[in-house]
Amino acid sequence: MRSDPMQSGGPLGDSAGRDYSRKLQRFNTFAEPELREAIASLKLRPGMRVLDAGCGTGEALRWLSETVEPGGFAVGTDLSAPHLSACAQGRKNSLVFQADLSRLPLHAASLDLIWCVNTIHHLPDPLTALQALSSLLHAGGRIALGQSSFLPDMYFAWDSRLERLTNEAVRRYYRERYGLQEQDLKAVRATVGLMRNAGLRHVKARTFIIERIFPVSADTEAYLLEAIFRGTWGERLRPFLSSEDYAELSRLCDPQHADYALRREDFHFMQSFTLVVGARGD
Ligand SMILES: C[S@@+](CC[C@H](N)C(=O)[O-])C[C@H]1O[C@@H](n2cnc3c(N)ncnc32)[C@H](O)[C@@H]1O
Repeated sequence: MRSDPMQSGGPLGDSAGRDYSRKLQRFNTFAEPELREAIASLKLRPGMRVLDAGCGTGEALRWLSETVEPGGFAVGTDLSAPHLSACAQGRKNSLVFQADLSRLPLHAASLDLIWCVNTIHHLPDPLTALQALSSLLHAGGRIALGQSSFLPDMYFAWDSRLERLTNEAVRRYYRERYGLQEQDLKAVRATVGLMRNAGLRHVKARTFIIERIFPVSADTEAYLLEAIFRGTWGERLRPFLSSEDYAELSRLCDPQHADYALRREDFHFMQSFTLVVGARGD
């Protein structure tokens, strides 16, 4: 029997009550220039009708709205009540509703574009969800599936060995924590095949690189320090690294330490964001 995602967690633990608003807000503020560039590449026009499927805390929903107004609208939907309330906070006229995006209460063939970022692989059955979403597009309407690399790949320009070991440790942590297979961590390049299997046409992919070097801005430091150094790494990685490597990683991630990575002049960070766009046929 199919589990109900409103009640129980998806493969990455999402549920109607789960809240990681702060991490989403930090990432979207940090990557705003590249995410806005990705939206601009879609060449949306005023008057268009857009859905942000899995809108999280609503930053992209706001940017999408700006591009389709006046005359059009961008509406957001998400499973998480805390994300939706963060989305509505301080923003008048936010069009959002809570739903499981495999079963949206929207009219078929009513939308010009669906924007769905870092969400499709959170669903128990991404293909069925994508097919359900594409039925909401009119013929020729497009769906844009965005996926940032599962985790940043490149950050310690001066130590590729520690970088590799850290990446492997993170992958092992996720595999054990969520019971994922190696293949589940390849989400970025699974997207093209998913689009084709769902019957979407004219599939195109474009990758934007989120690249930062020393000196980093306050938004970049806030995201890297809080979401990556403390949130993704930190204590979690201790069991997956030797004690020497864990101690070195801890020094690099500690703003109080002389070795703090974000104060190094050779700090050079890269993370990819891939947007795969496909159109509904007739
Ligand atoms: C990694 S976040 C991305 C959020 C947003 N698109 C962004 O880029 O900031 C994934 C989002 O998908 C939502 N989500 C997970 N499963 C869902 C489902 N079955 N239906 C609707 N939203 C879901 C989560 O609550 C979360 O807000």
